[in-house]
Amino acid sequence: MRVISSGEAKTLELGAKLSHVIPKGTVVALHGDLGAGKTVLSRGFARGLGITEAVTSPTFTVVQEYAIPSGGWFYHLDMYRITDEASALAFGIDEYLFNPQAITLVEWPERIEKLLDTPHTIHITLSHEGEETRALELPEELADKIGH
Ligand SMILES: Nc1ncnc2c1ncn2[C@@H]1O[C@H](COP(=O)(O)OP(=O)(O)OP(=O)(O)O)[C@@H](O)[C@H]1O
Ligand SMILES: [Mg+2]
Repeated sequence: MRVISSGEAKTLELGAKLSHVIPKGTVVALHGDLGAGKTVLSRGFARGLGITEAVTSPTFTVVQEYAIPSGGWFYHLDMYRITDEASALAFGIDEYLFNPQAITLVEWPERIEKLLDTPHTIHITLSHEGEETRALELPEELADKIGH
């Protein structure tokens, strides 16, 4: 299902709505080019979970961990600098991809495609439609749940 975002604020709002319907134990693979809005969506998601800390692309740190005020963890991963599955496993990525108490959002998931072939992974693709316009391709069931 294709959902159009007319600006950054709208993507933040969509992220927050998604955070209310995606259960813990889920991995969300965020596909899309540089500047497509993966981090903005992640920030909205964190806000929706009640996280108030700054949320920026963990390009250099690879992973950022946030405690969810109501319990559990929000993990934000950026695989941009990870070359393949082996190097991801070497830094202990399984801890972030298989934690029933956590929700994990992954930017540049293509880098670790084989590790994301699990039933608890949801795929969302963001694309540029215009300066301030982005399209989000998400599973029909999820779009229904957030009222789109
Ligand atoms: N509708 C929109 N939704 C999200 N971001 C938008 C939108 N319109 C404009 N923008 C701008 O696009 C940029 C999106 O940046 P963001 O860091 O989220 O991209 P990204 O997909 O995480 O890129 P990267 O792969 O470099 O991490 C921001 O500068 C934001 O202000
Ligand atoms: Mg980013």
